[in-house]
Amino acid sequence: MPHTTNKKLIVGNWKMNPSTSVEAKKLARKFKHAAVSLNHTEVVICPPLTFIPLCTGRTKTAHFHMGAQVASTQEESGPHTGEVGANMLRDLGVEYVIVGHSEQRKRGDTDAIVAARLKAVLGQGMTPILCIGEHSRDESGAYLDVLKEQIKASCGDLLKKVAKSIIVAYEPIWAIGAAEAMKSEDVYETSLFIKKVFADLYGADMGLKVTVLYGGSVTYRNAPDIISIGKVDGLLVGRESINAPGFIELLKAVDLLG
Ligand code: 13P
Repeated sequence: MPHTTNKKLIVGNWKMNPSTSVEAKKLARKFKHAAVSLNHTEVVICPPLTFIPLCTGRTKTAHFHMGAQVASTQEESGPHTGEVGANMLRDLGVEYVIVGHSEQRKRGDTDAIVAARLKAVLGQGMTPILCIGEHSRDESGAYLDVLKEQIKASCGDLLKKVAKSIIVAYEPIWAIGAAEAMKSEDVYETSLFIKKVFADLYGADMGLKVTVLYGGSVTYRNAPDIISIGKVDGLLVGRESINAPGFIELLKAVDLLG
C-alpha cells in the first residue's frame, strides 16, 4: 500500500526493544489510543518480529499501521533457516517494511541484499521504507554521490510502476543515536537532492511524488521544525518511539502542523 495521502507519516523503529512482550503490548496500546485522534498524521510502528502479532490486535485502529524492521531476501517459503519471509509478514497484517537500515548494512547487508529485500517486500504489495544515509559529510559534497549510488543500486532496476511504492528514509548515519538531529535546513537540501535523483531515474513526476522521511535523533522537540523547515513527508524515529510520553507528544506536535 503506497503512501499516497498528504498526511505526515511517523514511523517508530523500535529496534531490539523493549525486552518483554508485556511492555511491547503496553506501548502499542498507548500509541493506538493516540493515533485515533490524529487528523493529519499516520503512525507506523515497527516492533521486533516476535512482538508483531501481539501489537496488531484483532481490530483495525484508525491512522495506525504495522511495520516490520526486516524481511528475508527469499521470495518463496522453503529451506531458509532463520528467515522470515515478506509473505509471512503480510499474513500478519504488516503494511510497511524497513529495508537497508544502516544498522543492518553494518552487519553485512550489501546493496545487492538490500535490493533483494526491497523486491521481496514489493512483491507482496507492501510498502518498503528504503533507508539511505552517508557516514559523514565533507565540504566536497561526496555524500551526495553516496546517496545517489545507494538509491540507484537498490531501485535502479525496478520499473516505474513498482518503484512508485517506495518510501525513502534519509538517515545520515552520524545523526543516528546522536545528541542532536541534522539541521532542518540541511534536511531540506538533502531531501530535494533525493527527489531529484528519483526524477532523473523515473521522470519529473516521480521526483515530485516520492515520499521522503528523515531519521536520526528525532524527538518531540525537534520534530515540528524538521517537518516544516526540512519539508519532509514524515519521520523515522528510533529512541523516541519507545518512550511513550515522548512519542505521543511528537505525534500531537506533528499533527498540529496540519
Ligand atoms: P534514533 O532516533 O535513536 O537516533 O534512531 C534513528 C533510527 O535509526 C531510526 O531508524
